[in-house]
Amino acid sequence: MEFIIAEDYEGMSRAAADVVGSVMQDDPACVLGLATGSTPIGMYACLAEDAASGTVSFADVTTFNLDEYVGLPGTHDQSYRYFMDQNLFDKVDIDKARTNLPDGCAADLEAMCDAYETKIEDAGGIDIQVLGIGHNGHIGFNEPCEDFPVATHPVDLTESTIQANSRLFDDVADVPRRAVTMGIGTIMKARKVLVVANGEGKADIVSEAFTGPVVPEVPASVLQLHPDVTVVLDAAAAAKLDVA
Ligand code: GLP
Repeated sequence: MEFIIAEDYEGMSRAAADVVGSVMQDDPACVLGLATGSTPIGMYACLAEDAASGTVSFADVTTFNLDEYVGLPGTHDQSYRYFMDQNLFDKVDIDKARTNLPDGCAADLEAMCDAYETKIEDAGGIDIQVLGIGHNGHIGFNEPCEDFPVATHPVDLTESTIQANSRLFDDVADVPRRAVTMGIGTIMKARKVLVVANGEGKADIVSEAFTGPVVPEVPASVLQLHPDVTVVLDAAAAAKLDVA
């Protein structure tokens, strides 16, 4: 596990964009695994700048997002499809036909999840998976549980995640109670993983996930077992991390 500790959010965003950019430069037809949440917004802004300056190109890139709420269409301003369009896809030279998110409105969610896994495999697998981290250690929407879930699956959100994400909705009652997420197995199959976290509110979970025991009660802890993980933090999120 490699740690890059930047001074602030801007530095974290630039460092994270450089990690993704270097994968894109090595293979312009790479497969990116993408995440939503507040944390990667600055990284996406940096990548959009890089695409505008010609440092990177999304023309031949394929993307798969980690997760999506159940029941929100892509036109809903809190859907993750809308988030990705606003923060990245509409700002870069990407072919939207090659941007994939789980369909949280599918009539048969289980079948959609199976098809999503197949589509990732058919694309050759994920070259780099970007992850934020929830306050309870969730990655994607893999909430703390008794066993690491393997494949893409529907999930009931925990009360703490509903509360945390309610800041983006008019009312907590509007936050969907369910989501669809890549599994821990899907994430672990990515050839490289990039975790981003910022702010003092993430300091405890960053330390617990990356220096504590590997347990499904802290889903992000499983990343300690992945052979190629880069964790990019700002100083506040790194404050409780005790690594050399
Ligand atoms: C959300 C998303 C995660 C994200 C996490 C942290 O629930 N499903 O993919 O990493 O919460 O979000 P934030 O970056 O806003 O703290």
